[in-house]
Formats: sequence, structure tokens, C-alpha cells
Amino acid sequence: MTTNGYSIDGRRFTLEAPLDEALPIGSYVQLDTRDGRSYLGQLLDVDIVRGVGVSASEPMSREIRGRGVLLSRLDGDGPGRATSADVFAAASVVEADPQVVSAHLGSWTQDASGIHLGELSTIDGVPAALSASGFGRHTFLCGQSGSGKTYTLGRILEQLLLETDIRIAVFDPNSDYVNVGALREREETGLDPAEYEELADRYMRVASQIKVYGGPDAPSALRARFGRLTPAQQATVLGVDPIADPEEFNAFIRTVEDIPGEDYTIDALIERLRQSFAEDERRLGMRIANLGIAGLSIWARGDTPSIRETLPDDWRALVFDLGSLPSDRERAIASAAALGHFWAQRAARQPLLLVIDEAHNICPQVPMDANQELATEHAIRIAGEGRKYGLYLILASQRPEKIHENVLSQCDNLLLMRMNSTTDIEHLKRTFSFAPPALIEQATGFRLGEGLAVGKIAPDPIRFATGRRYTREGGADVPADWARRR
Ligand SMILES: Nc1ncnc2c1ncn2[C@@H]1O[C@H](COP(=O)(O)OP(=O)(O)OP(=O)(O)O)[C@@H](O)[C@H]1O
Ligand SMILES: [Mg+2]
Repeated sequence: MTTNGYSIDGRRFTLEAPLDEALPIGSYVQLDTRDGRSYLGQLLDVDIVRGVGVSASEPMSREIRGRGVLLSRLDGDGPGRATSADVFAAASVVEADPQVVSAHLGSWTQDASGIHLGELSTIDGVPAALSASGFGRHTFLCGQSGSGKTYTLGRILEQLLLETDIRIAVFDPNSDYVNVGALREREETGLDPAEYEELADRYMRVASQIKVYGGPDAPSALRARFGRLTPAQQATVLGVDPIADPEEFNAFIRTVEDIPGEDYTIDALIERLRQSFAEDERRLGMRIANLGIAGLSIWARGDTPSIRETLPDDWRALVFDLGSLPSDRERAIASAAALGHFWAQRAARQPLLLVIDEAHNICPQVPMDANQELATEHAIRIAGEGRKYGLYLILASQRPEKIHENVLSQCDNLLLMRMNSTTDIEHLKRTFSFAPPALIEQATGFRLGEGLAVGKIAPDPIRFATGRRYTREGGADVPADWARRR
């Protein structure tokens, strides 16, 4: 053993080792001092340096110098915190024993439920679990296309449904989560028959409380009743602004005030405008026709119920299959309506996790129209103030720069999967300054399904490999058999 470690403050350590004893960044290590003390540490940064005593005859001699943190003291009556007294000048450093690492990670999730994600990717056989209570902060899940974000998010949702009581609303632009209530066949889960039976029993109870909105027909179609949108959203949809279009805006207010109740449809509004002979009403009617608003498929009209009317009181998870809507405009209207609704309900203080996949389309840095701008405003408000009302976000995206900065900057958890772009890596390092930068850089070498978890969800920055999902993936990937050998 030629690896030497030292600590001058009992909190951090440095190690020096020949290149062929290098360990991956993020590894857990055991440091044994000469006087019989033993510590668990985590390696967070490594540089390659010129070895001591290198001569001209050994030009290739290089060493690594690594830095990390001391997590706990292992000798004595069980693990204890390392303190400022835990200074040492020389310790041998080896990769930590899997059992020691398991015990360390297990002790952290003791009080809260664990979200079993898979295994650590740096050490075989050690389960990787996130703390469920860590999802009481906003989370950003990032990785390039095809890195496994949606798959991993699906696994997290399954675990949250099984292990916690929190309500979950999923904004699903690619119809990826429409099967979150449907278990896979046992063979695909890797479970033995008894485990599978127990899972099926528990999951069935949850699945009965999952509602997916997005089918072509009532009652599961993704439909909103125009009159139930907030007045501000109604005006946004109609494209009327109180300052820029005072006449039309005023015609809008006068007309909806005359319609009894709140359950009016877009058709009822148009009908009222038609009945009026006033110029402003006529202009507003023309605007609605020009923008093709009545023809949007998002409206609940006639007897078609809106989501609110078909939602059972005891729902546990909602999936808004935004992918079932034919246009960006409708997806933005639906997102703004749902986010606005949850924000309006905040006084109930019922914990709710809002899961937004492809978040750059729902709360972008540069919204494409007024509807998306409204959805983004709601997301910013929830990101900034939602936590005190029990509203938590999980945002997934390939492009951190395309998500509104006031949303992203409120995320205290980072789940990072493979990421090739150096621009994106640099952006993440700046935004998530709580994550060790050298670990973020590792993301360029992650394999499919591999990731890094940092923040309130993990005791230490952990490198994980997502395990198998229990439920079926949705989405309709384009078949790849056009390239098969014939
Ligand atoms: N841990 C895993 N084990 C097995 N297969 C996986 C795993 N993670 C992802 N996959 C598969 O890899 C493919 C890409 O994964 P996924 O759709 O989750 O990527 P993504 O990051 O969401 O991509 P995009 O940004 O394009 O939506 C899918 O076919 C998925 O089934
Ligand atoms: Mg995806």
C-alpha cells in the first residue's frame, strides 16, 4: 500500500497515491491511521500531479492527489462524527468495505422513508437510496437526451407512491407516465414470486388512486372549462391586455360579468358577444375567431366534464398527458391552468409534488407566447414561495439554460445524469454551487441510467445506477428496426 492520507483539520483529507491506485471521484474510502484510528471518507476531487522524486529516467511517473471529506470515525463503539481533534499525518487509504458504506448510508435514511433508486455505481452491491423527506425541497433532474431521466423519474415516482403519502401531479409532455399505474410482468421486474406478490398487492391499492388525463374521450380527456380559468388566464387566452387593448378587455369583463355562474364554456362567451351590437364586443368576437380559440380541443364544452368535475377526492397521483394535446398553445394553456389551480389551493397546505418533465417547455427562460409566460409565472411563484405551503417541484430537462433561471435557482437538489455538453456542465456548476464541481464534471462519462444525487435528498453526493422499474414505460418511441440487418 503506497497510498498516504492526511488530515489537518479532522474534516477534510488529502491523499497521495500512484496512478494505478486511483479511485473514481465520489468513491468511499477507509483511512487507517498509524495509531489505530479508522475513518470513513469520500473522495470529491482528484488531480494528477508529478510524483515526488521523479527523475529523468522515469519521465512517466505521475501521482494522483485527491481531496475529500471525513464522514465518520469507524473505530470505537460504532460510527461517530469526526471532530477537529481527528487530525492525522499518515493513514493508509483503501476503497471502503461495501458493508461499511451500506451501514453509513442506511443510518442516514433511518427516520424518513427511503426512496430505493438502485445501487451505487462506484461500489458493487451497495443500495442507493434517497431520503423521501429530501423531496420537500425542489429538485432538478438533468441529463442529455437518452441518458435515462424519464426512466429514473418513473422509478422515483413508483417509490414515492409506495413509500410515502405525498400527492403527486405529473406534467407529462411525451405521454411517458401514462402507465405509471400498470405493473410490469414479474420477469421484467427481477423480483422473486413472493416479493412480486407483495409489491402487486401494495401497488394495486395506490394504482386505484392514480388518474391519467389525456385520453380522447370523457371522462379522462384533458379538458378545461373556460369559465373556470382565473379571469387573468381567460384574458391571456383571449389575447386581451387591460392596457394595450382597453376596449376589448373591457368588453370581455362586461360580458363575463353578465354570464351567470362560473361554469360557462367558450361557446357561451362567443354567443353572448354575438348577441351584442356594441363595437367593442364585435371586435373581441373577431379576435377570438381570428386566433382560432373556439376550435381548440382543450375546452370542456356541452356536457363534457372538466378535470375538476371528474377528480375523485382521494386521488393520490394525477398525470396530465400533455402529449395528447395537439398544439403547443394547448399544452401551455393546460399547464398554466393546472399550475394556477394548485397555487390557488395553497392555503390548504396539503403537501403536493409537482413533477414537470421536459420543464424547458413549461417554464422556459424565454416563453414563446403569453400562455407559456403565464405558466412560467406560476412556476416561478411556486419555486419561490411554494415550499411554505407544501408545494414541491421536480423538474426534468436536458437543457438547464432553457429553464427559467428564477425556477432553477430555487432547486436545492440535483439529480444529474449523463451530460456531454461542456457549456451545460459549466452552467450547472455555477447554478448548483453546493455540488462538488469535480463530481459534476464526471457526468460526461456516465453510462445509461447512471447519475449523481446531491442535496437534501442524499447524505453525501452519491453516484447511482438506476435499478429496474416496476411499472411500464409509456411514450411511443419510434421503432428502431428500420436499421436491422436483413
Ligand atoms: N436504468 C435503466 N435501465 C434500463 N433501461 C434504461 C434505464 N434508463 C433508461 N433506459 C432506457 O433508455 C432509453 C432512454 O431513456 P429515457 O427515455 O429515460 O431518457 P431521457 O433522458 O428521458 O431522454 P429524453 O431527454 O430524450 O426524454 C429508454 O428506452 C429507456 O427504457
Ligand atoms: Mg425523457
